[in-house]
Amino acid sequence: MTLSDDLKATVRAIHDYPKPGIIFRDITTLLGNAWAFRRAVDELVQPWAGSKIDKVAGMEARGFILGGAVAHQVSAGFVPIRKKGKLPHTTVRIAYSLEYGLDEMEMHVDAVKPGERVILVDDLIATGGTAEGAVKLLRQIGAEVVAACFVIDLPELGGAAKLRAMNVPVRTLMTFD
Ligand code: PRP
Ligand code: ADE
Repeated sequence: MTLSDDLKATVRAIHDYPKPGIIFRDITTLLGNAWAFRRAVDELVQPWAGSKIDKVAGMEARGFILGGAVAHQVSAGFVPIRKKGKLPHTTVRIAYSLEYGLDEMEMHVDAVKPGERVILVDDLIATGGTAEGAVKLLRQIGAEVVAACFVIDLPELGGAAKLRAMNVPVRTLMTFD
């Protein structure tokens, strides 16, 4: 078994959630496994060990859990990218689509200073709609998006390719069909 296989075995599949036809990749079982949680965080940021990262941005909600741990690991600040209406200060906002719906996300306008180096973190990339929206928000306020890191890639849905076409280096730890 490779590392990827061992980590992959800790992710649970839920069929027909949240809609018929979707196989939901549930990371709560990975997060609840001490070995798997530490290993996933260590592996996500391994290429940037020792490089200067100013901020880690995480997407609500699962991106908060991994992004907070990653920010600690690289000694960076953490920036929450939230679903609309949750942040108290002035925000930038963008509409986006994902594998099973439409929504809007926001970030505080002063969360990142122009030129700051940011790593984007989420649990999973599917269509890439969520990550694409986050990259656009970060670039709108002048961030340099150094990379986007995800535990899980669903490559058939094209999200990682979409981000690479936006000149964002993408790191993922495992794939599911
Ligand atoms: C999930 C996942 C990613 C997004 C990926 O979040 O955590 O953020 O979908 O899909 P995409 O690549 O097609 O955009 P979800 O919106 O379900 O929110 P949650 O973390 O609050 O459950
Ligand atoms: N977000 C988008 N698609 C998903 C899936 N299949 N499983 C878990 N989260 C997702």
